[in-house]
This record gives sequence, structure tokens and C-alpha cells, in this order.
Amino acid sequence: MATSVNAEALNESPISNSVAQHPSQSKQTIDPYNVSGEVGEDGVVKAIDYNKLVDEFGTKTIDKELLDRFERVTGKKPHRFLRRGIVFSHRDFELILDRYERGEPFFLYTGRGPSSDSVHIGHTIPFEFTKWLQETFDCPLVIMMTDDEKYLFSEKRTIEEVTSYCHSNAADIISVGFDPNKTFIFSDFDFIGGALYRNIVRLSKHITLNQARSCFGFNESTNIGRVHFGAVQGATSWASSFPHIFGTDEKKTTAIPALIPCAIDQDPYFRLCRDVSARIKYAKPSLIHAKFLDALQGPGTKMSASIDESAIFMKDTPKQIKNKINKYAFSGGKVSAEEHREQGGNTEVDVSYQYLRFFLEDDDELERIRVAYEKGELLTGDLKAMCIKELQAYVAAFQERRAKVTDETIALFMEARPLKWAGNPRAPIV
Ligand code: TYM
Ligand code: TRP
Repeated sequence: MATSVNAEALNESPISNSVAQHPSQSKQTIDPYNVSGEVGEDGVVKAIDYNKLVDEFGTKTIDKELLDRFERVTGKKPHRFLRRGIVFSHRDFELILDRYERGEPFFLYTGRGPSSDSVHIGHTIPFEFTKWLQETFDCPLVIMMTDDEKYLFSEKRTIEEVTSYCHSNAADIISVGFDPNKTFIFSDFDFIGGALYRNIVRLSKHITLNQARSCFGFNESTNIGRVHFGAVQGATSWASSFPHIFGTDEKKTTAIPALIPCAIDQDPYFRLCRDVSARIKYAKPSLIHAKFLDALQGPGTKMSASIDESAIFMKDTPKQIKNKINKYAFSGGKVSAEEHREQGGNTEVDVSYQYLRFFLEDDDELERIRVAYEKGELLTGDLKAMCIKELQAYVAAFQERRAKVTDETIALFMEARPLKWAGNPRAPIV
């Protein structure tokens, strides 16, 4: 069955006006508001088919050649997410490497929609990766908190609620370990105005209702705030939205591209923005996409911040982590120990193994675990114990940093101020 993703503009320019079919529930659906694998005839959700997504979104797979070039240009071994195909797809990432090589400026942009009071472990994936990119490239980073989006796209959340989540989520994001000299975090409600608002309107003027509908699956009853929001998230990829970081010379700032690390569900927002960028001769943002960390219930879904049993939260205690993994983590093992020893387990669908793939740094150890589990030498209980240990350590290290983040720290990161960065010290002086 064909995958259906409500996204247009495969070739990006010009934006097609044909209205995409909103996906039916049985098909694979990946967009900013839905993430689900195809539902099989047996009613079971299948794992997300990422190759199909690359084809349908018209992105490129990150291959060995690109990784080799990355290593040559930066002098750094690729992050485990890159080595393992977790960060798997991109748009124009090679153009960012060209600029880095030449010592030309670019910046990182990512974001978070504050939908609950704590981020879950899946949200930390793009942020961990962004932090590593910031250290690698030594460049400015802008983090957008879409409190407005989380109000507009929910029937029940109030403005007061999303405002409070925004504050606690900003503290969570800071705890990933960003450098305050190079990082600006902002709330849409508080910061939008001035140059960013001018760019939002500039972008919205170039997007028709038809295009927004076909890209996001809106209909006649959609509130108009949702229709407009795409311009808000899109215009943040233009450097000229941030004069306190990049200055006011628009000739220069409109030529500075963003590199946007995100999970692939966010891609539709930037497809529209890339199209318009090309038309108005602004630098097109580049993207680098991550896969999802599965929900505890197994492949085909992503963790949800509003369903406690679906996710490990960064505020969970060691005991909660242990209980959640033992109770809910979907197992690829066999029903009885005897059968498991004979036939082995399936690492592809085993949530504990998949989490180890995301978080265990040592490639050799991970490979040993995979082989042992597939041969049936390692039982589900043993694998869960390893996963619990790794996640407890990851979350504990995070919580230690989180305990040090005060209201003053948050205010520092969220103040509109100049940033300091070095760029590429190895680039030729031009
Ligand atoms: P939000 O808050 O839904 O998610 C924040 C980031 O986390 C990614 N993500 C995941 N990654 C791996 N595994 C998961 N289970 C998982 N769940 C979520 C998301 O793709 C995202 O990268 N509208 C955005 C906020 C935003 C943004 C951006 C994100 C504004 N500008 C630019 C990325 C880049 C949102 O609500 O994200
Ligand atoms: N309009 C078709 C559809 O949405 C095909 C298509 C064009 C498409 N661009 C796309 C599909 C981008 C997914 C992503 O099915």
C-alpha cells in the first residue's frame, strides 16, 4: 500500500497547487501533527518505512560518502546517530559543509513545542545532536519555543499552561548542555515582533491557503491561527530575523543559511519556506533529519508527551524508568526462555535494543549485544536490565545539570543579545 504523507512540493519550486489527499488512518502518516506507521490488515501498526519517506518527501539519504566528507572537513568522527543511520536524511547539508570549509557563516536552528511540563527522552535526540553540531561547527544557535503552536493545535490547553511549560521546557533544553555564549532561546509569545515578524509576514504573503492545506492537511473548519503558524516556524530559518545576532545589513543577513536539525515530522514546515526562499532570493535553509525514538509500546509510533506510559520522561526517577521498561517496553524476544534460546530475538522491533542503539556509545559492545540477542544467548530480561542501566545513567546526568539551572540561567539564554562564536578556525582567511 502506498505511503501517504500530506506534503507537497516534491521538487520544491514552484509550489504545486494540487491539493494532496489527507492520509487515511491506515496509511503511514508523518507530519508535524501525526506520526504513525501503516496499519496492517491485522490492525497492528507497522514500523515506519523511512526509505519511503525519503522518496516521498524528496530528501536525500545520508550516505557514506557524505559522512566521509563530513569527517574530512570537520576533523571529527561522526556522532553515533550518524554512524548508525539514526540521523539519516538531509536537504542540502553539503552546502553547509561547503560554507564551513570556506569559513562562511551559517547558523543552527531548532525548536520545541512546549506541550507538557517535562520533555521526554525522544525530544532530547535532536537537541543532543544539535549540541554536538554546535560544538563541531562553533556557530550560533537559535532555539524556538512554539508556545503559540501548542495553544493553537490543542483543544484544551490554555495560554497560561503553555507559558508555564515553555519556562520548564527551556530549563530542560538548557540542561542538554548548550553554550550560553552561542545560544539564543526564545518564546514565540514573548519575542515575536520587529525583524522576525516582518519576515513572518513576508513568508505568509507567499503561501496560499491551497498550499498550506495540501502541505498540512487543513480543512474548512481549521482555525486560521493554525493556517498561519507555518509562516512563524518557517521565517525563523532566516538569519535576518535576528538582527541582535547577525546585524542589520540585509544584503549580508539574507545570504546566511540555517541548518535545521529536527526529527523528520517537522520537514513540511521547511519545505514551504525553502520554496519561498528561492523565490525571494533568501538563503534556503538546509535540514538534517532524525528518526523517531519509538514509544515504549513499539515501532510505528513516537513517544507522546501527554501519555505517561508511552515515554521515559527526563524527570522520571530511576525506579520509574525501571518499572516502565520492565512493564511496557515492547519485546522482540520469544514467549518462553526455551524458545528464545532456540530461535533468538528480533532486535528490529525490540524497544530495549532500539533504545540502546540510540544511547549506548560503544559500537563494539552494541554489536555484541545484537549478535547475542539474535542468537538467543541473551534473554529479554538481561537486555532490559542493560537498557535500564543505560537510561538511568543518561537521565541522572541530565537531572544533575537540570538542578543547576535557575531562573537567572533561563533569563540569560532568553535575552535578545549578541552572541560570540569563532566559526571554523581551520578555514582559509578570505
Ligand atoms: P516538538 O516539541 O514536537 O519536538 C521537538 C523536537 O523533537 C523531535 N521529536 C523526536 N525526536 C526523536 N524521537 C521522538 N520520539 C521525538 N518526538 C519529537 C521533533 O521532531 C522536534 O525536532 N513545531 C516544533 C517546534 C519547532 C521546531 C523548529 C522543531 C519550532 N521550530 C525547528 C525543529 C526545528 C514542535 O512542536 O516540536
Ligand atoms: N501530492 C501527492 C501526495 O501528497 C504527491 C506528492 C507530491 C507528495 N509531493 C509530495 C507526497 C511530498 C509526499 C510528499 O500524495
